[in-house]
Amino acid sequence: MTKLRHLKRALVSTGAAVALAAGLLAGFSAPSQAATQGPCDIYAAGGTPCVAAHSTTRALYAGYNGPLYQVRRSSDNATRDIGVLSTGGVANAGTQDSFCANTTCLISIIYDQSGRNNRLTQAPPGGFSGPAPGGYDNLAVATAAPITVGGHKAYGVYVAPGTGYRNNNTNGVATGDQPEGMYAIFDGTHYNGGCCFDYGNAETNSRDNGNGRMEAIYFGNNKVWGYGAGNGPWIMADLENGLFSGVNQHYNANDPSISHRFLTAIVKGEPNHWAIRGGNARSGNLSTFYNGPRPNVSGYNPMRKEGAIILGIGGDNSVGARGTFYEGVMTSGYPSDATENAVQANIVAAGYDTSGDSNPGGTLTPGSAISLRATTACCTDRYIRHQNDNAVTSVITSSSSSLDKNDATWIVRSGLASSSCVSFESKNYPGDYLRHQNYQLYRHRDDGSSLFAADATFCPQAGKNGQGTSFASYNFPDRFIRHYDNTVYIASNGGSHTFDSSSLWSDDVSWVVSQPWA
Ligand code: AHR
Repeated sequence: MTKLRHLKRALVSTGAAVALAAGLLAGFSAPSQAATQGPCDIYAAGGTPCVAAHSTTRALYAGYNGPLYQVRRSSDNATRDIGVLSTGGVANAGTQDSFCANTTCLISIIYDQSGRNNRLTQAPPGGFSGPAPGGYDNLAVATAAPITVGGHKAYGVYVAPGTGYRNNNTNGVATGDQPEGMYAIFDGTHYNGGCCFDYGNAETNSRDNGNGRMEAIYFGNNKVWGYGAGNGPWIMADLENGLFSGVNQHYNANDPSISHRFLTAIVKGEPNHWAIRGGNARSGNLSTFYNGPRPNVSGYNPMRKEGAIILGIGGDNSVGARGTFYEGVMTSGYPSDATENAVQANIVAAGYDTSGDSNPGGTLTPGSAISLRATTACCTDRYIRHQNDNAVTSVITSSSSSLDKNDATWIVRSGLASSSCVSFESKNYPGDYLRHQNYQLYRHRDDGSSLFAADATFCPQAGKNGQGTSFASYNFPDRFIRHYDNTVYIASNGGSHTFDSSSLWSDDVSWVVSQPWA
């Protein structure tokens, strides 16, 4: 403990100077004017400087005041760089909001803050083709992953299957068996089993060139190759032709399922040695899930890394995965655990939070308009809306139709049956409320009866999965608003109906009270 505090103090005083020295030695311009510390200042002080530093949420050097990312809007194809609010600070999301008002923006470039120009752009086709024209991958919708960092609004990179970023012509990234480290912050609740939500080192021709050609962080619950304890998701290493949770490609009990809303994920490798580490990006320390030799299968020792950088895809441009990325770096040299621990402390201090999801107007104060977003990993882009009088969930984005957005918007009212709970009045059908009948939810007109009032009253409590809010039925208090196969019910945790299934129950009954779509 004392040792760590000591290291932190030393890093604070020397970080900027070492970063600058490393930059001058390498012949590129490093950031200056460090006011506080960024993760890359810490890596530089540890002797393992960043050679790529990507973030849409904040500066990763205390002295960085350049662009973080670029957005392109659909109305006229114009682009705008999004910078920081202040040197070394959080993204200026307001620039994006005003530039993208009334149109859709995509993230077209994620700049490299290291000064090496290892920026990420739309991934080209490779072994597999992407869905965009020419076989390119899709770009992320710029507003799809709103959060706050240190109380300031920011946006992450929301990767739906088909989305991918890449740089096949990098500068300074490890090749062959050279040592390197990397970390990324992901949304630990947004994942799938597709191949492969990766960030890190991959092939420079976007093809599967064989074992050991990659070294990237993987996050998700793919079990085709390796996997860890529980049902996932897991942090693993994509070393090509395999996701590794430990020395071999099979089950490794020490790699836990891990799904913090903000997740720090680490992979690092050096000759015949590599490691997986991870932790909660909002609190606490990192844990080590693997620390040992290279796989004992031909091709992985020595490694044959090629030095491209990928985000959201596999080395051969497999585009089946989903996830959300907020920030990540790659280093030259194998970072020490102590350096990474100090980086984790810096990440925690940055203050990642979800309040951006419900800001402004996403409150349960009577009179406010809101939308209710699902938190289950499958469905974090789905909202409760009415359709043909039924309550269902639909994917709603800024480009959804005005009808869809209105159907997914509700006015919070003091509970019709109890003022200590709430009711949800339809935005586009005033006088109609969300109510249950035979345990299913509908949009129905208030008939003034006490039964209707009770059926339309829901009592908020902390989200059962630790996110957002869960809503207990007023007259069936052990039943909560739940989505199941995209239909909305009041469901108990286990019971006779299919929709009472205890599998994913706590996720399905937890909702983010979001800003209204209409
Ligand atoms: O190693 C897992 C995946 O296998 C790689 O990402 C991809 O290139 C290959 O299909």
